[in-house]
Amino acid sequence: MSTELTVHTTMEEELFYPAMRDAGIDDEVLTEADEEHHVVETIMSELEGMDPDDENYDAKFKVMAENVEHHIGEEEKEMLTKMEKKSNADKLPEDLGELIMMRKEELMAEHAMLVKGSSS
Ligand SMILES: [Fe+2]
Ligand SMILES: [Fe+2]
Repeated sequence: MSTELTVHTTMEEELFYPAMRDAGIDDEVLTEADEEHHVVETIMSELEGMDPDDENYDAKFKVMAENVEHHIGEEEKEMLTKMEKKSNADKLPEDLGELIMMRKEELMAEHAMLVKGSSS
Protein backbone atom coordinates (compact mmCIF):
# COMPACT_ATOMS: atom_id res chain seq x y z
CA MET A 1 0.00 0.00 0.00
CA SER A 2 2.72 2.49 0.88
CA THR A 3 4.55 2.05 -2.48
CA GLU A 4 1.39 2.82 -4.39
CA LEU A 5 0.73 5.85 -2.23
CA THR A 6 4.25 7.18 -2.64
CA VAL A 7 4.11 6.71 -6.40
CA HIS A 8 0.68 8.38 -6.45
CA THR A 9 1.79 11.46 -4.52
CA THR A 10 5.15 11.83 -6.30
CA MET A 11 3.59 11.60 -9.75
CA GLU A 12 0.85 14.08 -8.89
CA GLU A 13 3.10 16.57 -7.17
CA GLU A 14 5.69 16.43 -9.97
CA LEU A 15 3.44 16.29 -13.00
CA PHE A 16 -0.30 16.42 -12.54
CA TYR A 17 -0.80 19.31 -10.12
CA PRO A 18 1.78 21.62 -11.76
CA ALA A 19 0.17 20.95 -15.16
CA MET A 20 -3.26 21.80 -13.72
CA ARG A 21 -1.89 24.97 -12.10
CA ASP A 22 -0.18 26.00 -15.33
CA ALA A 23 -3.50 25.62 -17.11
CA GLY A 24 -5.17 27.77 -14.44
CA ILE A 25 -7.42 25.03 -13.15
CA ASP A 26 -8.83 25.46 -9.63
CA ASP A 27 -5.91 26.27 -7.43
CA GLU A 28 -8.01 25.87 -4.29
CA VAL A 29 -8.78 22.24 -4.91
CA LEU A 30 -5.10 21.56 -5.63
CA THR A 31 -3.94 23.25 -2.44
CA GLU A 32 -6.37 21.09 -0.47
CA ALA A 33 -5.01 18.01 -2.26
CA ASP A 34 -1.44 19.02 -1.35
CA GLU A 35 -2.46 19.23 2.29
CA GLU A 36 -4.20 15.85 2.11
CA HIS A 37 -1.06 14.28 0.66
CA HIS A 38 0.85 15.82 3.54
CA VAL A 39 -1.53 14.41 6.17
CA VAL A 40 -1.46 10.91 4.67
CA GLU A 41 2.36 10.94 4.40
CA THR A 42 2.65 12.07 8.02
CA ILE A 43 0.36 9.35 9.35
CA MET A 44 2.07 6.75 7.14
CA SER A 45 5.52 7.62 8.46
CA GLU A 46 4.20 7.45 12.02
CA LEU A 47 2.77 3.99 11.31
CA GLU A 48 6.08 2.85 9.86
CA GLY A 49 7.87 3.75 13.05
CA MET A 50 5.23 2.16 15.26
CA ASP A 51 4.89 -1.28 16.82
CA PRO A 52 1.80 -2.93 15.25
CA ASP A 53 0.92 -4.11 18.76
CA ASP A 54 0.67 -0.51 19.95
CA GLU A 55 -2.86 0.16 21.18
CA ASN A 56 -3.20 3.14 18.81
CA TYR A 57 -1.91 1.35 15.70
CA ASP A 58 -5.26 0.13 14.38
CA ALA A 59 -6.96 3.46 15.03
CA LYS A 60 -4.16 5.33 13.27
CA PHE A 61 -4.31 2.97 10.33
CA LYS A 62 -8.06 3.47 10.08
CA VAL A 63 -7.70 7.25 10.10
CA MET A 64 -5.08 7.04 7.35
CA ALA A 65 -7.35 4.82 5.22
CA GLU A 66 -10.25 7.23 5.72
CA ASN A 67 -8.06 10.12 4.62
CA VAL A 68 -6.90 8.24 1.53
CA GLU A 69 -10.47 7.39 0.63
CA HIS A 70 -11.61 10.99 1.07
CA HIS A 71 -8.70 12.29 -0.99
CA ILE A 72 -9.15 9.84 -3.85
CA GLY A 73 -12.89 10.51 -3.86
CA GLU A 74 -12.28 14.23 -4.25
CA GLU A 75 -9.70 13.70 -6.93
CA GLU A 76 -12.00 11.48 -8.93
CA LYS A 77 -15.17 13.53 -8.51
CA GLU A 78 -14.24 17.15 -7.86
CA MET A 79 -10.87 17.59 -9.48
CA LEU A 80 -11.46 15.66 -12.67
CA THR A 81 -14.96 16.99 -13.29
CA LYS A 82 -13.83 20.56 -12.67
CA MET A 83 -10.95 19.96 -15.03
CA GLU A 84 -13.23 18.63 -17.75
CA LYS A 85 -15.64 21.57 -17.41
CA LYS A 86 -12.96 24.23 -17.67
CA SER A 87 -12.55 25.67 -21.11
CA ASN A 88 -8.82 25.93 -20.50
CA ALA A 89 -8.55 22.16 -20.08
CA ASP A 90 -7.12 22.25 -23.59
CA LYS A 91 -4.11 24.07 -22.14
CA LEU A 92 -3.05 20.85 -20.45
CA PRO A 93 -0.24 19.11 -22.30
CA GLU A 94 -1.71 16.69 -24.81
CA ASP A 95 0.60 13.92 -23.72
CA LEU A 96 0.03 14.46 -19.97
CA GLY A 97 -1.66 11.08 -19.54
CA GLU A 98 1.24 9.38 -21.27
CA LEU A 99 3.82 11.29 -19.20
CA ILE A 100 2.00 10.28 -16.01
CA MET A 101 1.95 6.60 -16.96
CA MET A 102 5.64 6.68 -17.87
CA ARG A 103 6.64 8.37 -14.63
CA LYS A 104 4.53 5.90 -12.65
CA GLU A 105 6.29 2.95 -14.26
CA GLU A 106 9.66 4.56 -13.62
CA LEU A 107 8.85 5.13 -9.95
CA MET A 108 7.53 1.58 -9.52
CA ALA A 109 10.73 0.22 -11.12
CA GLU A 110 12.91 2.42 -8.90
CA HIS A 111 11.07 1.15 -5.85
CA ALA A 112 11.40 -2.49 -6.96
CA MET A 113 15.16 -1.94 -7.30
CA LEU A 114 15.37 -0.40 -3.85
CA VAL A 115 13.53 -3.37 -2.33
CA LYS A 116 15.80 -5.81 -4.16
CA GLY A 117 18.93 -3.92 -3.08
CA SER A 118 17.98 -3.77 0.58
CA SER A 119 17.05 -7.45 0.86
CA SER A 120 20.39 -8.78 -0.41
FE1 LIG B 1 -3.52 12.61 -4.78
FE1 LIG C 1 -10.65 17.09 0.89
